[in-house]
Amino acid sequence: MSVVAVVPGSFDPITNGHVDVISRAASQLDEVVVAVLENPSKQGGMFSTAERIGLIEATLADVGVDNVRIERFHGLLVDFCRERDITMIVKGLRAVSDFEYELQMAQMNQQLAGVETLFLPTSPDWSYLSSSLVKEVAGYGGDVSGLLPDAAHAALLERVAE
Ligand code: PNS
Repeated sequence: MSVVAVVPGSFDPITNGHVDVISRAASQLDEVVVAVLENPSKQGGMFSTAERIGLIEATLADVGVDNVRIERFHGLLVDFCRERDITMIVKGLRAVSDFEYELQMAQMNQQLAGVETLFLPTSPDWSYLSSSLVKEVAGYGGDVSGLLPDAAHAALLERVAE
């Protein structure tokens, strides 16, 4: 039986923190499904679903993981899991501040569908990182190179220049 987990998120855009969690999950599991939330109208959303998926694809090709696939989803994450017989979610935890909401979602997902959540402590290198902060800093002209994969960095610079 192969062990499969979902790594869900908005990935708007993918950062080095996401890459850390996805690649470490992939190294421990048979397969990882990156589930990209389809929510183009989400406040603060910068990239379309197709753009976000394209950036994840380009990044994972560079990283060289071959047991990760990318899918889009909308609605409840547990429905996405149920439809694919997946019983595990992997989430990165950056800091204690993440924990309260993540715990609540994990318990809700367990209650709704018996889907378990495993938390991976984010590498300390990226524990301060979030897509929204990266977008904010880049929007004001700050240097965010080194915080996100090359493809995402280039796309972000292009988008803030528009
Ligand atoms: O990258 P994000 O925006 O922090 O990811 C949040 C995400 C997509 C994992 C979370 O919002 C989610 O699971 N949304 C799907 C809707 C859902 O299942 N809501 C109930 C959670 S208990």
